[in-house]
Amino acid sequence: MHLSQSSIEQLPKVKRLNIINSISGIKPGNLVGTVSRAGIPNLAIVSSVVHLGSHPPLLGYLLRPRDEVRRDSYENILENGYFTINHISTEFIEKAHYTSAKFDQHTSEFDACGLTPSYDFGFSAPFVKESKLKVGLRHVESISIPSSNTTLIVGEIQHLDIPDDALNEHGYINLESINSAGISGLNSYYSLNKLADFPYARVHEVPKFAV
Ligand SMILES: Cc1cc2nc3c(=O)[nH]c(=O)nc-3n(C[C@H](O)[C@H](O)[C@H](O)COP(=O)(O)O)c2cc1C
Repeated sequence: MHLSQSSIEQLPKVKRLNIINSISGIKPGNLVGTVSRAGIPNLAIVSSVVHLGSHPPLLGYLLRPRDEVRRDSYENILENGYFTINHISTEFIEKAHYTSAKFDQHTSEFDACGLTPSYDFGFSAPFVKESKLKVGLRHVESISIPSSNTTLIVGEIQHLDIPDDALNEHGYINLESINSAGISGLNSYYSLNKLADFPYARVHEVPKFAV
């Protein structure tokens, strides 16, 4: 099937949304943990977490347009200045998925979806106890992207919690061993299979590939 710009435009809205959301491939599955000024912990699934830099260590995620819908996580980040990013494991993909429901401001997605907030390392934003890879971040900046009416939320890593046996001596993290889940589109979840490790690619070390 070939879809031109105009045929994409003519697709039914939901179908278009599903196709366009899936074409970037497998995205990381994460839960953003925040807490409101009133002390209510909030959890939201996001599939747009991206590495932005290692020194300083920065991660970002893309916040959807917020003109029509309330974005509790973002309000909390602005109020509190801190948030957490927690890998979704295959064991709790269903619970994680339902954190995307529009609960009212006074309902904690942790309670509603059966996940446990844990305030570790004296950090003010809640981590997800069930998650095996947890990151605590300080909000550094929010960058508006006018073409998509979205906002890139940038955070600097303050805490990183990973099981010892998932981290090798070179600092590589085996995501298969901690059952991190991948997301396609808005509702498909995948498990990960590690296929290979390759060395840093130097021109003089490139194998001879047959064409
Ligand atoms: C699979 C999946 C991925 C999502 N990824 C994002 C995302 O990257 N950014 C975003 O702003 N919302 C994303 N959402 C929607 C949020 O989870 C949803 O809007 C949630 O209600 C926001 O919660 P909040 O109002 O407590 O901040 C995603 C939803 C699903 C189901």
